[in-house]
Order: sequence, then C-alpha cells, then structure tokens
Amino acid sequence: MKSKIFSALLLTVAVGVALSFALSEQQTKPWPVPEKYQKMKNPVKYDKTAAATLWTKHCKSCHGKAGKGDGPKAAQLDTPSGDFTTQTFKKQSDGALFYKSWIGRDDMPNYEKKIPDEDDIWQLVHYMREF
Ligand code: HEC
Repeated sequence: MKSKIFSALLLTVAVGVALSFALSEQQTKPWPVPEKYQKMKNPVKYDKTAAATLWTKHCKSCHGKAGKGDGPKAAQLDTPSGDFTTQTFKKQSDGALFYKSWIGRDDMPNYEKKIPDEDDIWQLVHYMREF
C-alpha cells in the first residue's frame, strides 16, 4: 500500500518536473530578428500621451499596465507574454522591439493592419523602454 502511494507521488513529481521543463523551454524559445530590423534606431520623438493611449488600446490586455505580462487575457495564452521590466528584455535593440511588436508570432498578434502607421509602433517602443 505504502509503496503504491510512493509510486504515485514519484510519478506526480516526475510529471511536474517534465512539465516545468517544457514550459521554461517555451518561455525562452528564441525569436530571431531579421538583420534589417535589428539595426534600426527609433526615428520618432517620444509622445508619452499618444504611446500610453496605444498601449492601453492594443497591448495592455495581455502585457498588463506595467509590462509585467499580467493583463486580463494573460491566463488564456499558450505562451507567456514575458516580463518587460527585465534586463533580458531591455537589452534588445529598438529595431528588435519594433519587429516583434509589429510582426508578432503565435499568440503575439500581428499589427501591420491594426496599427498601419509605423510611427505608432515606434511610440510603443519608447513606451516599453520605460517599464
Ligand atoms: C493577445 C495577447 C497579446 C497582445 C494583445 C499583445 N501581445 Fe505582445 N506578446 C504576446 C505574447 C504571448 C508574446 C510572447 C510571444 C512568443 O515569445 O512567442 C508577446 C511578445 C511581445 C514582444 C517580445 C517580447 C520579448 O521578450 O522579446 C513584444 C516587444 C511585444 N509582445 C509587444 C507588444 C505590443 C507593442 C503590443 C500592442 C501593440 C502587444 N505586444 C500586444 C501577447 C500579446
């Protein structure tokens, strides 16, 4: 009897460990940025009010008010949306943030149609740097 409980426990732990590995792998899945974008510098002057309006309208539902990835839609996502207050996030170039924000992948939506003005995306890049 005792050994059955022990095996069940062991199995639970093994599944838990496997699952957390799978999840952490997802979290760090590399997202290559084409060279053309990588080197871009933010060309627009920061307009914080405009940027905040865009963030609230398009991005906050998943990424949260302060970029912590804790918006109301976060729980429904297959991949975590990340924590924008970390050094790993901040180290990225303007162009990398622009590319990921505009083009997207998987659960991160594509905004080429929803935000057709590239300058708006650049405003969001400024905004995300402040988290
Ligand atoms: C429906 C939920 C959702 C919305 C809305 C959303 N995102 Fe995302 N975003 C994600 C997810 C999920 C990821 C992680 C994608 C991945 O790694 O495959 C992500 C990743 C990102 C990244 C890359 C993060 C990193 O660590 O490199 C940036 C930049 C980003 N989003 C910006 C934005 C901006 C700007 C907006 C608004 C215009 C926005 N997102 C709207 C879900 C969302």
